Amino acid sequence: MDISKIFSNNQKWIEEKLAVDTAYFDSLAKGQNPDILYIGCSDSRVSAEDIMGASPGEVFVHRNIANMVSNLDLSAMSVINYAVAHLKVNHIIVCGHYNCGGVKAALAADDLGLLNPWLRNIRDVYRIHKEELNTMENDMDKYNRLVELNVQEQCVNVLKTAEVQLAVKARGLSVHGWVFDVASGKLIDLKIDFNHVLKGITEIYQLE
Ligand code: CO
Repeated sequence: MDISKIFSNNQKWIEEKLAVDTAYFDSLAKGQNPDILYIGCSDSRVSAEDIMGASPGEVFVHRNIANMVSNLDLSAMSVINYAVAHLKVNHIIVCGHYNCGGVKAALAADDLGLLNPWLRNIRDVYRIHKEELNTMENDMDKYNRLVELNVQEQCVNVLKTAEVQLAVKARGLSVHGWVFDVASGKLIDLKIDFNHVLKGITEIYQLE
């Protein structure tokens, strides 16, 4: 990406949009009404709208390293709250990806300074699923499975928030756990059985 070309690229993009619909930006300016909140990794290879075929205005997006949903992260919590309570989205997607550098870093014992507390959240996922992960002999299998289990645990964190709890009850909001396979371009629905996953923890978190 040549940074000096960005503004001319932008001009081209504007012209392309207007060639199809002269009122394109007028309608964009009127407001947004997305039905989906997407929470994904900041990785430059996983560009949210592209992989879903989504257009501007269709998806509310939050990205951070390794698609984490921490209840102490004011940014993530604000995004979820705004999307659910104000935009009234009906779907929340947590999308991880194979070859995730954040997940890989959490598997190693290196000191990464400021990143340590962030990656510790992924190490917590490892601890919760230690039994399953430790049965895997192949490092790549273990790495890929941790990516999937991290998505599952971040979905659980989404479901633990009060606003999501209320929306699940009131209008049947649903949470989806997906993984993007960088090596093939495929988007994979992990089809997580949340009733099963949440069984046993609902009383602790006082979930409905
Ligand atoms: Co990543």
